[in-house]
Amino acid sequence: MHIHPTERRYILFSGGLILAFAVAILISSVAYGIQVPGQEMRVDPRTVATDGTTPFSLPEEERVRELAPGEYEAYVLAKTWAFEPRDISIPAGSTITFYVTSQDVMHGFKLQKTNMNIMILPGQVSRVTVTLDEPGTYDFICHEYCGIAHHTMYGQVIVE
Ligand code: CUA
Repeated sequence: MHIHPTERRYILFSGGLILAFAVAILISSVAYGIQVPGQEMRVDPRTVATDGTTPFSLPEEERVRELAPGEYEAYVLAKTWAFEPRDISIPAGSTITFYVTSQDVMHGFKLQKTNMNIMILPGQVSRVTVTLDEPGTYDFICHEYCGIAHHTMYGQVIVE
């Protein structure tokens, strides 16, 4: 079968692109550990805020915890149309691991000035770790349209 040389170049180029993307996915999952959260990170969205089996049912002020000096974890519950807790304070240079889930519909969580940008699915706990070196206020917003007051759904991390 005759293939025009120009067409052959495009076929090779397209095939190369697909290969390059597949290699990029492989490197990110193997070398950087970027993976879709597994079953152990599943919760029941209807009871996650009340059943007492996860820190999501603790009072808001107890959901940000210091594990070691400069090392924090925060359990943030997303619901229409608020994040709980809404204000998180940590010292500059700290590493904070966010565990975020939704008790109702799909939300988003984008932390300003970082590359943290996750989708919040009901039933699924998303986990992301960031290090915040610069003092200041880092706003986080919901970036998935979740209803009439979507634009009022935000909070902040205050780095002191
Ligand atoms: Cu929650 Cu938009």
